Amino acid sequence: MWAVSSTDTRHSRLVTMTMTASSSEPPTRTERTSQARLQMTPDAMRAFGYRIVDQLVQHATELPGAPVLRLPDAAGAALPTSLPQTGVGLPAALDLLDRHVWQAMMHLDHPRFFGFVPGPSNFVSAMADALVAGLNPFAGTWLEASGCAQVELITIDWLRQICGLPDGAGGHFVTGGSAANLTGLAIARRIRLDDDMTDAVVYCSDQTHASVQRALRLLGFPRHQLRTLESDAGFQLSLAELARAVAADRQAGLRPFCVVANAGTTNTGAVDPLPALADLCEREGLWLHIDGAYGAAAVLTDEGKRLLRGLERADSLALDPHKWLFQPYECGTILVRDARWLRQTFAMHAEYLEDTGQPGGETNFFEEGLQLTRAFRALKLWLSLQVFGIAAFRAATAHGMGLAALAEAALRATPPWEVVAPGALGIIAFRYAPQELGAAATDALNQALVHAMVEEGFAFVSSTALRGRTVLRMCTINPRTTDDDIRGTVRRLGAHARRLQRSL
Ligand SMILES: Cc1ncc(COP(=O)(O)O)c(C=O)c1O
Repeated sequence: MWAVSSTDTRHSRLVTMTMTASSSEPPTRTERTSQARLQMTPDAMRAFGYRIVDQLVQHATELPGAPVLRLPDAAGAALPTSLPQTGVGLPAALDLLDRHVWQAMMHLDHPRFFGFVPGPSNFVSAMADALVAGLNPFAGTWLEASGCAQVELITIDWLRQICGLPDGAGGHFVTGGSAANLTGLAIARRIRLDDDMTDAVVYCSDQTHASVQRALRLLGFPRHQLRTLESDAGFQLSLAELARAVAADRQAGLRPFCVVANAGTTNTGAVDPLPALADLCEREGLWLHIDGAYGAAAVLTDEGKRLLRGLERADSLALDPHKWLFQPYECGTILVRDARWLRQTFAMHAEYLEDTGQPGGETNFFEEGLQLTRAFRALKLWLSLQVFGIAAFRAATAHGMGLAALAEAALRATPPWEVVAPGALGIIAFRYAPQELGAAATDALNQALVHAMVEEGFAFVSSTALRGRTVLRMCTINPRTTDDDIRGTVRRLGAHARRLQRSL
């Protein structure tokens, strides 16, 4: 429905406007030259751009009525694999995309995509990305794009203010949460350990995102220098366990170094006891890295602010605008308590970069993070905040929290649904648990529910394991999700569960 077919009149227009690679006439010299320059005529560019915009608008407007996904099928395999020598032309290339690529994807911006962490995105930011791709600023140095750098500094400071970090804190745009965790922990290693990791121990709960473990491995921490502590009944890092582990490690002559706390776990949205953890870190001289990639944005709301008290005490804080701040991929950020730490960790010098040195202390982002060449990722967040205002973002975030509460109420009202973790921070974990079914059968039934929903295509929920048991999760952060979407999803889950149970 939303794939534009190759017989579309806009396509025909494009055929005549582009370089006729698909026509039977051999290309003229002018056409050949333009092609070698990877160039299109102004009219062809316009037609192409309008075609893409039309497709995106169609996507945005028709999405709620469309299936949330299509099952992966053999379509992908039909994509030609040979390297095009002369080019197939724009219409044919777009047609390949329509038929084989866009048909075979989940829509993480669909109002009934509740699995993993949705990517609700927004049109203003999508257009900002188009602008960035078209103008192609080099956001690594002040010299090459000082205007972009100013936007980036301002936007980082907005995030700093939102999260309550003190003046003097700073940050950096990265690709996403995994990169933010890696960057934050690299800064911690540099600033606290001067990169000497000998006997330095990191602490986190068993609910911590897997990217943290991977980041530590990449940074050279051996596995035995990470303590993954069993979380408590609320899936939070246990303060008592942590204090015990730190004391035991000190006793053993090791160097407790860093606590990784969660501000919204992926599994349940749980928030670790941040104020108490910050106190402990202060007392013990430990670095506090908070992974708020998913949940930190909820600080915009009153309820989120209450749940996320202590966020402002992070030494480093990962926050992903491409999750709950509604940005298209990729958009992650790392905030740090002292902006100077970025440079102290990432500065590099090379004779071919001498010209980028500027008087007056302007920011060269390549010295504050891993990338030299970097995209202007801040623009999408900046532009959408300019256009909609923070009040709209606050309302959109609050809406997601309200939806999780609604889902929780709907599940509690219809046994044998069991709420395993309440929908505090936009994520609810639950399972269908008829008393008469044993543990293994209950797990299998809940797993089968994910597949049943996938086959139906109305909504997507995903599963995870908590305390060794299979549970379902709904992450309800899309501001375009309606109450009916939630109720309808819970109703259909129930219908599938009853059918599956009958078939056992
Ligand atoms: C809590 C948390 N941390 C880190 C990540 C990794 O973020 P990304 O997928 O953007 O790399 C995620 C992703 O869902 C997450 O939920």
